[in-house]
Parts: sequence; C-alpha cells; structure tokens
Amino acid sequence: LQGSPATTATTATTASTARFRVLWDEIAPIGRDARTGGYLRYALTEPEQRLREWFRAQAERRGMPVTDDGNGNLFARWGDPDAADAVLTGSHFDSVPHGGAYDGPLGIVSAFLAVDELRAAGVAPARPLVVGAFVEEEGGRFGVPCLGSRLLTGALTPERAAGLRDADGVSFAEAFGGQPAGARPDLLAGFGAFVELHVEQGRALVDRDASVAVATAIWPHGRWRLDFTGEPNHAGTTRMADRRDPMLTYAFTVLAANKEARLRGAHATMGRVHAEPNATNAIPARVTGWLDARAAETDTLTGLVEAVHAKAVERARRDGTEVTLAEESATPLVGFDADLGTRLAALLDAPTLPTAAGHDAGVLAGHLPTAMLFVRNPTGVSHSPAETATDADCAAGVAALARVLEELTCA
Ligand code: GLV
Ligand code: MN
Ligand code: MN
Ligand code: MN
Repeated sequence: LQGSPATTATTATTASTARFRVLWDEIAPIGRDARTGGYLRYALTEPEQRLREWFRAQAERRGMPVTDDGNGNLFARWGDPDAADAVLTGSHFDSVPHGGAYDGPLGIVSAFLAVDELRAAGVAPARPLVVGAFVEEEGGRFGVPCLGSRLLTGALTPERAAGLRDADGVSFAEAFGGQPAGARPDLLAGFGAFVELHVEQGRALVDRDASVAVATAIWPHGRWRLDFTGEPNHAGTTRMADRRDPMLTYAFTVLAANKEARLRGAHATMGRVHAEPNATNAIPARVTGWLDARAAETDTLTGLVEAVHAKAVERARRDGTEVTLAEESATPLVGFDADLGTRLAALLDAPTLPTAAGHDAGVLAGHLPTAMLFVRNPTGVSHSPAETATDADCAAGVAALARVLEELTCA
C-alpha cells in the first residue's frame, strides 16, 4: 500500500449502511413507474433532469464546484481546480425502459458517500477527486449507448450525436438545447484515472460469496438494426401462398439469432421491435428489429452477426421479402488496466471478473487507466425492475470505493 496507512474503514458498518439508505431514499422515487416498479429515467427527460439537479445539490452541499463538459456530462470536483491527474469516479443516471434502480445511480451515490467517508476519516488527497455523471449511457432514448462518454472522448462526432432521434422524433440537439461540444481532450488530460462502481449484472458474486469484485474486461458488443420490408395487405383475404410478410422473416431471424449465439457460446437478443402499420388485421409493410449481440472474442461476435444476417437474407428470399442490416453502435473488447486491476483486487482482497455489459468505463479505458468495482446483486437480474442489492452490500461498495480512492489519490 505504498507505505500509506489506511484510514478509511474497509467494511460496511451499521452506521454506513444507514447513511447509504438515507442518500438512496432521496433519489429512489424519481422516475419510478408505479405500475412496473421499474424506472423511466431517459436522458434529458424530466426525471433525469431532476437527478442532475440532485447531483448539483449534492456537489454544492460538499463544496465541490460542478463543470458541464458541453456534452451533458457533469463533473464535481474536490481539490485544486488546476491540478492535473485527478481521479474520476461516477456513473450514469439514465435507465433502460422500466430498468432497475441500481444500474447507474449506485455509482454516483456511492461516489458522494465515498467522499464523505474520506473526509470523515481525515484523508487529505494529494490529487483532486472528481465525481462524474455521464449522459445517455444506456442509449435508451437516442439509441447509441455511452453517448456522453463517446462525445467526450471523440469516439462520436457532435454532428452525428446532434442528429440522433428518440422515438418521438426529438433530436439529441433539441433535447440538449444545441449542438454538443464533442471531444474535450483538455478535460480528459486532467484525469489520471477513472473508477466506476456498478451493481453486478450477473450472479458471479453470489457464487463467490463476496460483496465486491474488480472487473477485468468487457466483452465486445454492439447493436444492429434489421429492416424487413414486404407487401402490406389484408389479413383476411390474402391467400397464405400469396403473402410477402416481413413479420415472418423477422420472426425467423429472432430464432436464428438465438440459435447462432448458442452455437458460439455468445449472447444475442432481439428485445425491441417496431411494426408498420402495426394493425392486427394487416400484413405489415415493414418490421424493424434490433439485434444486441455480445461475445468474449471479437471474431466470434463478427461471425455471429454475419451468420444472423446471412440467415435473414436466405429466409427473406423464401418469403419474398427484403432485409437490410445496419450497425448502430459497436464497442470493441475492453481490457481494463491490468496493473490497476491487480492492485485494487489485492487492496480489497476481492475477486476479479469480466462482464458482458457496456459501461462508460469501457469507453474511457481507451484514454486513461480505468477500473470497475461490482457490487453483489442477489438475483443477478438487471435491466429489469427486479434488479437489486442489499444496503449492507452497497455500504461495502462505498467502503471499497473510498479505500480505492484513498489509495489512488494519496499514493
Ligand atoms: C448497457 O448497460 C449495456 O450493456 O447494454
Ligand atoms: Mn445498463
Ligand atoms: Mn450502467
Ligand atoms: Mn451499462
């Protein structure tokens, strides 16, 4: 530990668990849908704006000035405004449709609580500590995940981001109130490391009987849009043999994606569909389906998407329909900083694991030493109202994060 004695607690206490609950309860009602119990916290909509205001209030309460990077990402700073090599920690507020409470906000709430823990322990960081909130991580509104971190790092141009539209036709530029700033190498250069704490999105920590883990890698993954077109016609009078039904080709493609993923030990999901005109008594003119595909290796992922596309094209020929495939986003394999990961796993005496979920940490990992901490999720369920974590595990996550931030800012 570089000779610096630890001053923060390494485990949850009754008091730190209670502190977690108090802060968590402040945001728990925001954007919660009473019918499903899930969250509708789409980027730049009213609930997410309220969370951003909450962020500013938390920062102010702690005397941490907030910077907006011109892309919608917020950064609250503790320490010298001019010093480089700041340690960044945080996550995102936005959710998938009817998503869980923890995916995203846990990393931000934990970051503010970790600042409190460090201050209560009398830790005086030698490097600045910055709490960040990234915009549109899920791509739940504008379709491209990690939109904010991609803009910040230049992985996405402001022109392309500005033109992305939500389901109501509202563009990102309209929702944001202008063209985003795009790449901010000046801001990025001021960060020396990024640590994102996140609820686990699987059951590995349940199996290992541990409350916190350190992430090693993110599987390569992406989103593809498949447009199926056919001939709209009457559902009652059109003979079965005369139909050119794009829904049929779409349905076959869903099955093919599942089969091809299983054959490769990969993951494929077609969780979103749009039919036109979407009438019970009409053969559709057009069906759009989105493919989310992920695999441990890049070649496997490429092979999977090619196979799904080939099967769809072959089936379209038989159905008299047409299909086109367009990539909407792609995230390459991310290996988190191995030295940092090893150091943090030893510091926390925590297990390490890879994940198949995307994160802003995956985007930032290409620009600065980056690590992720996972907090146990008893059911393993995520992107669903059933996503959960115990208060004690969340408090253990805060303690682990505080310990990591102390190590990184004081060493
Ligand atoms: C984001 O959470 C994703 O991996 O879909
Ligand atoms: Mn998510
Ligand atoms: Mn997330
Ligand atoms: Mn994510």
